[in-house]
Amino acid sequence: MPNSKPIKDYIRTIVDFPHEGIMFRDVTTLFADPRGFRMAIDQLLHPYAGMQIDKVVGLEARGFILGGAVAHQLSVGFVPIRKKGKLPGAVISEEYQLEYGEAIVEVHDDAIMAGEKILVVDDLLATGGTAEAGIKLVERLGGEIIGCAFVIDLPELGGRAKLEALGMDVHALCD
Ligand code: PRP
Ligand code: HPA
Repeated sequence: MPNSKPIKDYIRTIVDFPHEGIMFRDVTTLFADPRGFRMAIDQLLHPYAGMQIDKVVGLEARGFILGGAVAHQLSVGFVPIRKKGKLPGAVISEEYQLEYGEAIVEVHDDAIMAGEKILVVDDLLATGGTAEAGIKLVERLGGEIIGCAFVIDLPELGGRAKLEALGMDVHALCD
């Protein structure tokens, strides 16, 4: 039977999490549904059909769940970009702005070879700070980013504009 339910309808909104006034998009309900999860992975990949992708890069933490499944579907390797201090090998780092303060993300310095074609995956694009830091890490290692794919784009927070200004192709399944 065809699945006519849109991706957005699988995503729950939690009011006042993690702070009062925030409407938190909770993708665990999408991940927990077998049809919803498969549809999300298929739709994340749809624009890149027939294109060469050598590795999928996922952003901690929900980008690991999506990116792992996307990499499996493509039969390519997966590279995690992690919060500071989590990766055991030699890393390169990028700092980015949070609502209050800064954070640092890291990637193993041997995880991507120069010239490899990379798809960046995460669950949600808000200000774009996390994705921008991830893009910089990939590009510092010589990776060529084919696209940045998200389940949710919150365009009013400016992330899409920020990534497009960097020359990125941004693909999102819903707002
Ligand atoms: C969330 C989300 C994205 C990022 C988007 O992750 O999963 O990675 O924020 O926000 P931005 O576009 O404003 O950077 P979070 O930092 O909460 O980390 P977590 O997945 O480890 O909880
Ligand atoms: N959900 C998940 N992660 C987020 C959100 C959200 O609504 N906003 C910023 N990061």
